[in-house]
Amino acid sequence: MRRKLAGLRILITGASSGIGRALAILAAEAGAKLLLTARREDRLDELLEVVHAKGADAKYVVGDVTDPALRQKLLEKAQHEYQGLDVLVNNAGVGAYGSFAEASPERLRQLMEVNFFAPVELTRLFLPMLEKGRTPAICNISSILAHRAVPGKSEYCASKFALHGFSDALRAELSSKGIDVILVSPSTTSSEFSSSVIEKKGKAPATGKFTRTPHDIAAAALRAIRTGKHEIIPSKTGYAMVLLDRLWPSLADWAVAKLG
Ligand SMILES: NC(=O)c1ccc[n+]([C@@H]2O[C@H](COP(=O)([O-])OP(=O)(O)OC[C@H]3O[C@@H](n4cnc5c(N)ncnc54)[C@H](OP(=O)(O)O)[C@@H]3O)[C@@H](O)[C@H]2O)c1
Repeated sequence: MRRKLAGLRILITGASSGIGRALAILAAEAGAKLLLTARREDRLDELLEVVHAKGADAKYVVGDVTDPALRQKLLEKAQHEYQGLDVLVNNAGVGAYGSFAEASPERLRQLMEVNFFAPVELTRLFLPMLEKGRTPAICNISSILAHRAVPGKSEYCASKFALHGFSDALRAELSSKGIDVILVSPSTTSSEFSSSVIEKKGKAPATGKFTRTPHDIAAAALRAIRTGKHEIIPSKTGYAMVLLDRLWPSLADWAVAKLG
């Protein structure tokens, strides 16, 4: 479904930096009304100044997306400030690296809480409101690692594969209700993501030289929301990796084990 961003009421999680912040700025420029959330209030204050200077209507709620009370506050804020919501962008996410054998169960639990359970439960909470929205959509910011897993990031890959599977199932379930489910799968992006990983053990993963900017990813995600495209992989190298994995999986296995 095609949609006009002007006037759309959009909730963006993880808006305090990187892709979420860039999404907020671009959506504000397109005339959307924003509800933003993250844990760092100083960052959200600064962002609010930026988007207000562009003439956008924007509010925020501070908190941890894994906290059910925060999610409930977001629902109440959307109702109170905008009388509903049209687009939910599940963007907040964290990483960790190091071999699975040496990792604690807590690392897995934390990554699944932030990257999978939180967006899924936020979606559950907002579904009735989205059903009443204008050209409604759910946009999940996933990862290229939701298509092809790599060593040293088993929990992160699992959390993004889970979000991918959930998004595909939900898209089919919601198609009769007119709600688009959009999956965005970026490759390495120059945000604060690598510095905010919750645990670093062993060799840092190679970042590659084809790094995209948060602005690139946000622009591609907004284009997908505007045009109703269901899945995007906004990088040629990411796309090539997915293609290799589909066409020649044993070579892809060998390559990631070697280059990981
Ligand atoms: N950067 C990459 O290379 C890359 C590649 C593929 C996919 N992605 C995905 O893109 C999304 C955005 O990441 P980014 O690159 O923009 O990284 P980033 O700059 O580190 O941004 C992550 C955002 O998530 C928020 N966040 C993290 N944990 C949270 C929690 N428990 N509760 C609430 N908010 C939380 C952070 O805000 P606070 O710290 O203020 O709470 C921050 O705003 C993530 O889902 C990530 O998995 C990133």
